[in-house]
This record gives sequence, structure tokens and C-alpha cells, in this order.
Amino acid sequence: MSYQIKGLLYEGKAKKIYETDNPDIVIMEYKDDATAFDGTKRGTIREKGIVNNKVSNHFFKLLESKGIPTHFVEEIDERRTAVKKVEIVPVEIIVRNIAAGSLCNRLGLEEGIVLKRPILEFCYKNDALHDPQINQYHILALELATEEEVDRIVEYSFKTNQVLREYLKEVNIDLIDFKLEFGRYKGNIVLADEISPDTCRFWDVNTKEKLDKDRFRRDLGNVEEAYKEVLKRLGL
Ligand code: TMP
Repeated sequence: MSYQIKGLLYEGKAKKIYETDNPDIVIMEYKDDATAFDGTKRGTIREKGIVNNKVSNHFFKLLESKGIPTHFVEEIDERRTAVKKVEIVPVEIIVRNIAAGSLCNRLGLEEGIVLKRPILEFCYKNDALHDPQINQYHILALELATEEEVDRIVEYSFKTNQVLREYLKEVNIDLIDFKLEFGRYKGNIVLADEISPDTCRFWDVNTKEKLDKDRFRRDLGNVEEAYKEVLKRLGL
């Protein structure tokens, strides 16, 4: 399929979204810009956009094949992908298998502790408020999503965790935690946004080396190399 790209619809911190001549389809373009801590830390990770586009599309295709509906339509080129035009639910979902990041800060846990079962958290998607953590009651009271939508989001989030965790184990990567976003498309909930080293924590199973955006957030060095390593292990 070919799409006539029209005007810029939206520019986020890591992606640009363009309208097309098809009202149901938009084009996502991945940038090399990197931000952390609500955009207060800024930088560039060379070819990050290329890695994230390929990695995310690979995961979305895998998840589709396992029965999780996603916004993915087709990869256009190394930085751009056609996706269904969704209305993003303003709730970020975080799934955690191993304690890291803000969970450790909040609960005083040591990084690397294996959780007895996965934890699912909701955050209100609002940078000005620093994406505050909320729960199911906030979502329903503020009408951010319906009860049926929340049920679907929770089901798809845990399934995504199961599929990706098993898949990544095969390439010697532990899926520590990740963030998902969902959208509404023709009345149904679909997985949207991206799943990449920007939005997940990936650790080498043996060395525990970090292969994700924490290398940028924490100034650990070899940031580009880590992103490329993920691409290589996925055979992309
Ligand atoms: P956290 O430990 O900082 O709460 O992050 C949990 C996961 O969510 C981690 O894999 C990184 C991801 N994440 C995002 O994708 N975007 C964000 O803005 C934040 C804070 C985290």
C-alpha cells in the first residue's frame, strides 16, 4: 500500500506523527532525540530512531500473531511506519517483573529483586504533572477509560508481558519492566505507541548489563552500542 503523507499532526519527544490521505492511517517517524525526567535531560542517541522503529515493529508483529490487536499496519522505511490512527487512552501501563527504577525508590527495594508475580501499575499520562501513578478507581472516576476498556488493557498488558518475556529469554535478555500505551480504533482497544529500548528495561541474562535507555538516563556510556545490541540479538 502507498500513502500520501500530508501535514505534521503532532510532534512528541521521540516521534513525529504525520497525517496521510487515508483518514484511518497515520505515519509515525522515529527521531534520535532522547529525553529523560520529563524532558529535563535531553540528548541524541545516534540511529536510535532506526533501532526503535525496527524493534517495535518486530514486537508488534509478534504480539499480533499471539492475538493482541495493535495499531501496526506496515513499515514504510527505516524510520517510518504506517499505523492505525487511534485515540490514545491517557493512561500509561507499566508492567514489572524485576524491581528497578521508580519502584525501588518508592518502596525501598534493591534493584534486581525478582518479584513473586508481575506488578501492573497505571500512570496518568500528563508530563506537567510528572505522569502521577493512579489506580483503577481514578481511571473510572475521571472517565479516562471505561471498565470494559480497563479489563481489556489489563488482559493485553499481562499477555504482552508473557509473550515478550519468553521471547526475549531466548536471546539472553531479561525483560525487567516496560511501559505500554493503548488507543481506541473503531471502538476497540488496540496496543499503540512503541515497545523499544526507550520504553523497556532489558538486562543481559548472564552479565546483567543494561541494554536500554537507563544507559542514557544514568550516563552509563555505550548507549548507541546497547541499542544496536538489542537489534542484533533480535536478528534484525
Ligand atoms: P520507572 O521505573 O521509571 O517507573 O519506569 C518503568 C518502565 O517504564 C521502564 O521500563 C521505563 C518505562 N518508562 C517509559 O517508557 N517512559 C517514561 O516516561 C518512564 C518514566 C518510564
